[in-house]
Amino acid sequence: MGPRVTKAVVSFEGILKRFPGVTALDGVSFDVSAGEVHALIGENGAGKSTLMKILAGAYRADEGTVRIDGHQVQIHGPEAGRGLGVRMIYQELTVLPNLDVGRNILLGREPTRRGLVNWRALYRQAQAILTQLGLDIDARTMVEDLAIGEQQMVEIARALVGDPKIIVLDEPTSSLTRSEEEALFDLVRRLKDRGVAILYISHRMEEIFLLADRVTVLRDGQWVATKPIGDVTEQDLIALMVGRDIDTSAKAPAHDAAPVVLEVRDLQAGPRVRGVSFAVEAGEVLGFSGLVGSGRTETALAVFGAEPHSGGEILLNGDRRTVHTPRDAIASGILYVPEDRKGLGLVLIHTVAENLALPSLPRFERRGLLDRRGERRFVAEWIEKLGVRTPSPDQQIEFLSGGNQQKVVLAKWLALGPKILILDEPTRGIDVGAKAEVFRLIREIAAQGVAVILISSELPEILRESNRIAVFHQGRIAGELDAADASEEAVMALAFGQDRQPDRTQMEASP
Ligand SMILES: Nc1ncnc2c1ncn2[C@@H]1O[C@H](COP(=O)(O)OP(=O)(O)OP(=O)(O)O)[C@@H](O)[C@H]1O
Ligand SMILES: [Mg+2]
Repeated sequence: MGPRVTKAVVSFEGILKRFPGVTALDGVSFDVSAGEVHALIGENGAGKSTLMKILAGAYRADEGTVRIDGHQVQIHGPEAGRGLGVRMIYQELTVLPNLDVGRNILLGREPTRRGLVNWRALYRQAQAILTQLGLDIDARTMVEDLAIGEQQMVEIARALVGDPKIIVLDEPTSSLTRSEEEALFDLVRRLKDRGVAILYISHRMEEIFLLADRVTVLRDGQWVATKPIGDVTEQDLIALMVGRDIDTSAKAPAHDAAPVVLEVRDLQAGPRVRGVSFAVEAGEVLGFSGLVGSGRTETALAVFGAEPHSGGEILLNGDRRTVHTPRDAIASGILYVPEDRKGLGLVLIHTVAENLALPSLPRFERRGLLDRRGERRFVAEWIEKLGVRTPSPDQQIEFLSGGNQQKVVLAKWLALGPKILILDEPTRGIDVGAKAEVFRLIREIAAQGVAVILISSELPEILRESNRIAVFHQGRIAGELDAADASEEAVMALAFGQDRQPDRTQMEASP
């Protein structure tokens, strides 16, 4: 390895963790050094978050040892983890929306003077941390008034309080904009220079190659490899994660002209949709690209009847249709799969089977009775089709890993057999293997004549998977590009309104 002499800050030795029906971790051992960014990768459900929760004290291992600075430690609870210098930034936000930023950052560790909270010191300290992060946020702002990406940055700010020795970032960029991402990467490098050990979980390969010194791969709860990043290629890592090769470069097949199934003319809805016109043909994949707030999601919601529109027309197969509610839309064969799986897509306390079958239930009704066996078969088929990792169809959805929840959302809607399918950021949080599966499925659906609208902030993804790309700019479509000869630069020029030189750091990663 490198010339630098490093010592292990964290050592995992034979960590084993079982949940009912699943062995989440099966004898995992590896070390993390001081001043190292150590990427932890693996498919959805591989055990990454579980291992980090053990380190942070949120879960206890059934077997195995964790050492910090060479000493065996018992981490009973998050406060104990914190006391040992471990800071965890979770996949899901844990900030309290109805408190201000400063109080969130210093929650439970408020500076005091004569037994009372010293508010001036609190806001000063919080502001200093925000500045350190390069954030232009006032510590007195209420968290609920911030964008999701900013809330995520507050989450990160909170981890910097005290003297962190080990920082865990679990998919930190999934809701950050490009510029917030850059700020985060800078911060990671600075922490590394200070000798902090950083564990970095991500499904995005570019990030891993940009930041990591070493990478550990987990598969099905087992340790597969730990390698210096310079010793591996992206394809090597994919093969280690999924145990086979996956081609992530092939473009979607070309689309032959077909009848227009959906045409939208001069659609107006709320402040963000200000005259949107486009058409999509049967079997075509139309990509929606653009910056945050450019109106992509809002347009989709209006077409789906989930947001009222104040002007314009929606034509289905050439007929003017009144789509006022999602129910109208579904009845007309239009489906919208939201990006926010927790808010719109899933009932967390229900099982995988219940979530999956819910919209399809009418299909299993026979003279007022439910065909249970048919329903079970249907559920099993979709679990198999999308490779949902779950111990059983009757597992509560909240215990599935993030990516597997996303697959259930997709399966639930795809199973309805829509004519027009709108997918909003369908691959956020899912692993390379599952991404390839999702796109294989989308291509298959398009090949059956379904018109697909794909909203994605990942430019390579949209360029590869679309036949045509509509680029949004300030509530209108600034231009359309044929995906065959579109480039990232061309898309960005349109996204920025063409007159400005595009700047990749400003390309937003969330709508
Ligand atoms: N509290 C829990 N109860 C039951 N099963 C759980 C619990 N937490 C995790 N699991 C299961 O343990 C396995 C590992 O999950 P984990 O969340 O660690 O995966 P992950 O690698 O972080 O995946 P992702 O990339 O999707 O976030 C999965 O099969 C998951 O369903
Ligand atoms: Mg996880």
